[in-house]
Amino acid sequence: MRIILATNNKNKLREISQILSPLGYEVVTQSDAGINIEVDETGVTFAENAYLKAKAIFDLTDNCCVLADDSGLMIDYLNGEPGVYSARYGGTKNDKDHNDLVLKKLSGVPDEKRTARFVCAMCFIKADGEVIAVEGKCEGKIAAEPSGENGFGYDPIFMFGDKSFAEIPADEKNRVSHRANAIKMLLQSLNTN
Ligand code: IMP
Repeated sequence: MRIILATNNKNKLREISQILSPLGYEVVTQSDAGINIEVDETGVTFAENAYLKAKAIFDLTDNCCVLADDSGLMIDYLNGEPGVYSARYGGTKNDKDHNDLVLKKLSGVPDEKRTARFVCAMCFIKADGEVIAVEGKCEGKIAAEPSGENGFGYDPIFMFGDKSFAEIPADEKNRVSHRANAIKMLLQSLNTN
């Protein structure tokens, strides 16, 4: 089955395809499907933003399956920041600036108070228009300093056990990540529907 991913983010395409292709799904980006719109993420929750993106794309297709996700990092000590603003935290789109800002805000905060989670809301709209919404999480802690070269975004400062997400191989991250957990829930939901 062909699924249009409501993004042109190659990192997301790679991660989601690595999980879904072995199960027989062909995942393509919205631009691969000839859709060139940028949907404003005006929602105040990940779930709202995922729905806004999925619906905008679905309305432009001839009843194609669409999958949209909205994800980000929630840090307990910062009352859930950067949250839905993860991609533009501190008014910049630069990953290193985001990580520097988080580390500055958590400067001096002890390890036990550095708990955080990645969250991924997914909204799947089936060819018949039915909407399936799920939310996956991945619990961790914010490191004292960045480490590792893999991944993207906040991976170098997100500790999953004793390694950062940027230190563990992609296939391992893909088994435990918020996106992986959201996709597992989505597949369960699709199988029981
Ligand atoms: P989105 O594209 O609106 O979902 O924004 C997601 C933002 O959250 C990205 O720009 C990253 O900064 C951050 N993010 C989401 N998932 C991950 C991940 O797996 N690793 C690191 N950062 C992530």
